[in-house]
Amino acid sequence: MNMTFVGMGYVGLVNSVILASYNHNIIGFDIDKEKISLLKQGVSTIEEPNLQTLLTEAQHNLRFTSNAKDAIRGSNVIVICVDTPQGKDGEPDLTHFYEVLDEIADNATQNCCIIIRSTVPVGTNRLTKKYLESKCNYRFQVISMPEFLSQGNAVKDTINPSRLVIGVTSPEAEIFAKSLAGIFVNKKVPLLVTTPETAELIKYASNSFLAMKISYINSISRLCDKVDADIDKVALGMSLDPRIGPSFLKAGVGYGGSCFPKDTNGLYWISDDNAVPLDLVKATITENDAQIKYFLDKITKRFKSLNNLKIAVFGVGFKGGTEDVRNSPAIPIVKYLLEKGAYINLYDPLAEENFHKVFSRHTHIAYLDYPQDALKNSDFVIILNDSDEFKKLTADFYIENMKRPIIFDGRNLYKVEDMKGTEYYSIGRPSLKKK
Ligand SMILES: NC(=O)c1ccc[n+]([C@@H]2O[C@H](COP(=O)([O-])OP(=O)(O)OC[C@H]3O[C@@H](n4cnc5c(N)ncnc54)[C@H](O)[C@@H]3O)[C@@H](O)[C@H]2O)c1
Repeated sequence: MNMTFVGMGYVGLVNSVILASYNHNIIGFDIDKEKISLLKQGVSTIEEPNLQTLLTEAQHNLRFTSNAKDAIRGSNVIVICVDTPQGKDGEPDLTHFYEVLDEIADNATQNCCIIIRSTVPVGTNRLTKKYLESKCNYRFQVISMPEFLSQGNAVKDTINPSRLVIGVTSPEAEIFAKSLAGIFVNKKVPLLVTTPETAELIKYASNSFLAMKISYINSISRLCDKVDADIDKVALGMSLDPRIGPSFLKAGVGYGGSCFPKDTNGLYWISDDNAVPLDLVKATITENDAQIKYFLDKITKRFKSLNNLKIAVFGVGFKGGTEDVRNSPAIPIVKYLLEKGAYINLYDPLAEENFHKVFSRHTHIAYLDYPQDALKNSDFVIILNDSDEFKKLTADFYIENMKRPIIFDGRNLYKVEDMKGTEYYSIGRPSLKKK
């Protein structure tokens, strides 16, 4: 079997490297020539724990190319892992996906199995088969295999996923897909074989459910602030019920990243397009926007004007441990602060480069190498992601390094009682106010 992965992003690169580490020969294809040049030199283009080590070890089983003909010709299994971003009105934008189908149709030299790992709207599997077979003379078996990895844990999640979902259209395809499953995961991983439509919907329904849990706990956190309850304890009390569980019940400034925002919008668009608009999904999206505004309101209640204030911002990656700033809550928050005339002292060693690409025209942002330098001379600090580095900081650290230790913690990283001596505002918990 000759296998090509198309799209060397988080999904495609991690999958390719792990399969190569299992001793499969893999071709990794991307149209981004710079990315391919680095990968050819054995340099990982994304930050994921253990990925660089595995890439180095498995390099002899990997061949990277930016040439479509070279990548497709001779392959009988092609795995599509390109981005499917949010388009107009939330509709998933399949431009790159269809570009790949054209690349396949133009360069295939035999019948092929196409595996779709990108997140695509319900119905895409069957449309893919029709599209490819209308454009060339080969036969295509199309298998949906949605990806569930989470950034920051991508290697672990790919080696040991919670489940493998496979969508197929015929019993023959099912037999083939089951043999393929053994290449991707070990036998202990639960395998669900179903129709393409069900597989496609499982992906959107899963991501939207997780996003909904976040929006739910965030909305409860706003009520906590009003009625003097403590969201951490409310979440703990809820999570002890095994039917609820603890995951995704941490209140904060809201979710971001390349998946939850686009997949909630995508699911709502799909539901609306099918005349079954899902109000709960719509509310999940609205609540997420409301939470950012709520956090900013806390700041503007404390500081009537932000003009000329210096603000330290910790953590602009959409979550801790990633360089990815796509749809990070930090983007609208920093934009707002700049509009109000503030100066930003930013600290995020992993994500600063990507953040700079978004804000390259702004001269009011300084990118600092150490947290102490960001805090020095700042009027207050806001914390926007849950990086392990920030979790370890103590009240004394802020007291020692700030003129006045005023902290807006958008991720509830610290226990309120541990922050005595600072002015400390978090989400859905009592504040420590200035005396
Ligand atoms: N990132 C995640 O955590 C995650 C998790 C599960 C599922 N997904 C889904 O997987 C898909 C890929 O996500 P990602 O985060 O890996 O994307 P990404 O943006 O990191 O990478 C996509 C890659 O595809 C390449 N590409 C685009 N058009 C191409 C073309 N025509 N030919 C060859 N290469 C092309 C891009 O250059 C890029 O390197 C998306 O549909 C996403 O929703 C992502």
